[in-house]
Amino acid sequence: MPTNYISPISMDALSNLCGELNKNNSIKPNDFARYHVKRGLRNEDGTGVMAGLTRICSVEGYYILDGERVAKEGVLSYRGYDINQIIDNCVKENRFGFEEITWLILFGNLPTQDQLFSLQEVLAECRELPEDFIEDMVMKHASKDIMNKMARCILGLYSYDENPDDISVANVLRQSLQLIAQVPTIMSAAYQVKRRAFDGKTMYLHPIRKDQSTAEYILNQIRPNKEFTDEEAKLLDIMLMLHADHGGGNNSTFSTRVLTSSGTDTYSAIAAGFGSLKGPRHGGANISVAHMMNEIIENVPDPTDENQIKDYLAKILRKEAGDGLGLIYGMGHAVYTVSDPRAIILKNSAQKLAVEAGYEKEFITLQNIEKVSPGLIAEMKGEDNGICANVDLYSGLVYKILGIPEDLYTPLFASARIVGWCAHRLEELTSSKKIIRPAYKSVSKKRKYVAIEKR
Ligand code: COA
Repeated sequence: MPTNYISPISMDALSNLCGELNKNNSIKPNDFARYHVKRGLRNEDGTGVMAGLTRICSVEGYYILDGERVAKEGVLSYRGYDINQIIDNCVKENRFGFEEITWLILFGNLPTQDQLFSLQEVLAECRELPEDFIEDMVMKHASKDIMNKMARCILGLYSYDENPDDISVANVLRQSLQLIAQVPTIMSAAYQVKRRAFDGKTMYLHPIRKDQSTAEYILNQIRPNKEFTDEEAKLLDIMLMLHADHGGGNNSTFSTRVLTSSGTDTYSAIAAGFGSLKGPRHGGANISVAHMMNEIIENVPDPTDENQIKDYLAKILRKEAGDGLGLIYGMGHAVYTVSDPRAIILKNSAQKLAVEAGYEKEFITLQNIEKVSPGLIAEMKGEDNGICANVDLYSGLVYKILGIPEDLYTPLFASARIVGWCAHRLEELTSSKKIIRPAYKSVSKKRKYVAIEKR
């Protein structure tokens, strides 16, 4: 375990510095409206500022009628195919779908059988990391946070690439395919190292198998005994399909596109996606939901009672409980208003499996959070913006049912979203060709420099 670095900056010094910083850094809330700033890149009605065009993915949660935003059921489609249709078809044919979705998202069409085989072969061949990478990059400087370790490993891969800075389509596609295959390997190794360094548990680094789908491969690598059922692997496969992309505007994909637009290398752009996804308002919300759910179960005598849940959620919103940020995790979305199609699919899976797995209380708690939060948030904020359960509300419970540790919730999201990040990077490189550079208005008054002895 790395020894903690003790900062030479004392608490007293820091408190003085913070006072100095706060004195000179506030911006009057009214100024945002005065200068028509699109805070969070949102228009006044909550819709997102149009920042680009994409053929990869469509996320719909409202429509505009007579200039007004009208809420509607959420729709998610990859390259024009509704996610429900893709998943239903894979379930009906009892086959894995993540690789098919990977082809679809990257190349733009559903793959033929031969194309699918060739992609599976390429991914299998690329799962292995460069020689000594695990020893040099993963095992050294262990991190409690797997996302942090993964981001560092992605940046580290730059050093092992003979042609890292070439941003031609062929080179970026090669790097993308390698990364899509390697991210699950990095995730599993980082998790095993964390177990040993921080949890005092045995580390298992199983040999890489090339005959498995991504979902099977992940379960094979993270479980000590490498055992899992086909049903478990197919459920994880659905999770990966649901998380593979979510349009160009989600925070991590947009970050990847912003970095890509500067002409930087693939590893820098993708590492940015990891940094963003880790945040609790984005992919990190799946861990925050788990913490919130546990806290509610510990503190609410009867979580089947909607009123008791409502009272506790009100405390969370008032920042008297939870992590103090006043957010009900797993609720709300920048686009979806009435429903998030991913949450519906995950809720169905969780509902089917929760009782059998002994997690009925957890399921009922989440269901009640989903039921009472929209009204409560509207009541307490004084306006109804249309808030529904998002993908993260039930995803943690599905992982729990699969016996997957909390440490891996957001990393698994990343193992799927890497497909979207790569596709959007390629699209940015081929179609946009303009550096993303919005404006910031300075609200500082001009001042004359004062010599140091006169301050
Ligand atoms: N808990 C508490 N308040 C919430 C909320 C939530 N889950 N979701 C939205 N709100 C609040 C916002 O903070 C905002 O209040 P403000 O005007 O006082 O700042 C207001 O409701 C309007 O929000 P809206 O415009 O609908 O949402 P957004 O686009 O600003 O934020 C999220 C979207 C996802 C960041 C937000 O809903 C959130 O933080 N959710 C919890 C974290 C989460 O689950 N993230 C995963 C997303 S997939």
